[in-house]
Amino acid sequence: DEVRMRNEALSKPMNLSHDIAPRVVPFVHQTIEKYGNMSVTWFGRTPRINVMDPDLIKDILSNKFGQFEKPKSNPLIRLFVDGLVSHEGEKWAKHRRIINPAFHIEKLKRMLPAFYTSCFEMITKWEKLVALEGSCELDIWPELQNLTGDVISRTAFGSSYDEGRRIFQLQNEQAKIVMDVALSIYIPGYRLLPTKRNNRMKEIDREVRGLLRRIVNKREKAIKLGEASKDDLLGLLLESNFKEIREHGNEKNIGMNVDEVIEECKLFYFAGQETTSNLLVWTMVVLSMHPEWQMRAREEVLQSFGKDKPDFDGINHLKVVSMILYEVLRLYPPAVALTRQTYKKVKLGDVYLPPRVELSLPTILIHHSRELWGEDAQEFKPERFLGGVSKAANNQVSFIPFGWGPRICIGQNFAMIEAKMALALILQHFSFELSPSYAHAPCTIITLQPQYGAQIILHKL
Ligand code: HEM
Repeated sequence: DEVRMRNEALSKPMNLSHDIAPRVVPFVHQTIEKYGNMSVTWFGRTPRINVMDPDLIKDILSNKFGQFEKPKSNPLIRLFVDGLVSHEGEKWAKHRRIINPAFHIEKLKRMLPAFYTSCFEMITKWEKLVALEGSCELDIWPELQNLTGDVISRTAFGSSYDEGRRIFQLQNEQAKIVMDVALSIYIPGYRLLPTKRNNRMKEIDREVRGLLRRIVNKREKAIKLGEASKDDLLGLLLESNFKEIREHGNEKNIGMNVDEVIEECKLFYFAGQETTSNLLVWTMVVLSMHPEWQMRAREEVLQSFGKDKPDFDGINHLKVVSMILYEVLRLYPPAVALTRQTYKKVKLGDVYLPPRVELSLPTILIHHSRELWGEDAQEFKPERFLGGVSKAANNQVSFIPFGWGPRICIGQNFAMIEAKMALALILQHFSFELSPSYAHAPCTIITLQPQYGAQIILHKL
């Protein structure tokens, strides 16, 4: 039923409304409408409980008693991602402790020039496109994917940027193959078959690992000689790893080995690229639908920076832009659901669950719930966030685009700074509107994407 309903929903574009949940997650949407805040559906042979209640969501995500873990059941995701996002227990805690310092706000401040360079290159390209007639039509979806790929190549690998770009291209090719094989991936043993696609996947994996291994080895040597860059994610991660080994060297299983560092680098691409380009593409689409907010955001940007390069403090003080980004994350969350599974027998609300029951927290439905966000939940109203995130969410765990609790997204500040920098530069240089050829058709291919692209008309300012 789930697949049939999804295909049916995706075959029809929708009007220009933000009420996108019935199209994006039709099955869960209908189940929740029918059965309320806690319901059971089946994912193959695994029972899946859909949880909408903010108190229960808080219990699950805070995981105070270690009763929940990330499910291992999605082979589609597992193809790309290992590392922090899928670790549990002590291993997760150790990796999180080592990686955390690389995302500290002071470290992100030092990455600002890299964010700027990537955004400026995209703006320069767009300026050339509009130069002739003062405006042009552009599918901004691939443009923004390329931008966020460029940002992560630069910020993750700094001086090894060229190899970083190659890794980005290879991981994109892998993503395309995975989309092509789609549901076959769920057939047991499928990945072991010697098909052309499976062989290419293995080849790519070898090349990516080889490239990363060379970068990591080069950096490790440089760090030992005291000459490595400490301004990119890899440098910071290796530095923090060495510190951990120096301080606890005689204990067992301390620090990460080279293979683990490589997995974490691959994860930065996967976790950081598609999600942030999602946020940016929906922000531009939504600001095209709401020109009054586009104007307010531009006024704020021009007041803060004029046409100059945005600086870190200025970026952090952009209030209207932040409110807009939060409201876009509410209506169009890049990750439409969070998942967990019970690790042991657990009482959730009034219900006892055995181990290995899958829990789905349907972020998109939680964010669109009238009960939680009011009768105007489907409307774009950035003013909700005027008093900050907690106030907008009524001090409940009902705004979870980055998750919540100990496993909250490690890159959320990184993503917000990147999105503000990109948006500030775009607003400084262009106004934009939807092209008549744009069809509003959000759909999930791992993240929430525009099914037919995002055709926008850019006007030079
Ligand atoms: C985890 C969203 C950007 C790295 C997550 C989770 C979500 C999320 C929903 C999972 C939380 C859970 O299961 O409880 C987003 C969104 C982004 C974004 C919406 C952009 C708008 C980034 C960036 C990076 C990143 C830029 C790194 C460069 C990670 C990592 C985890 C994670 C490593 C795993 C954390 C853990 O399990 O401890 N993110 N993310 N994310 N994200 Fe992000």
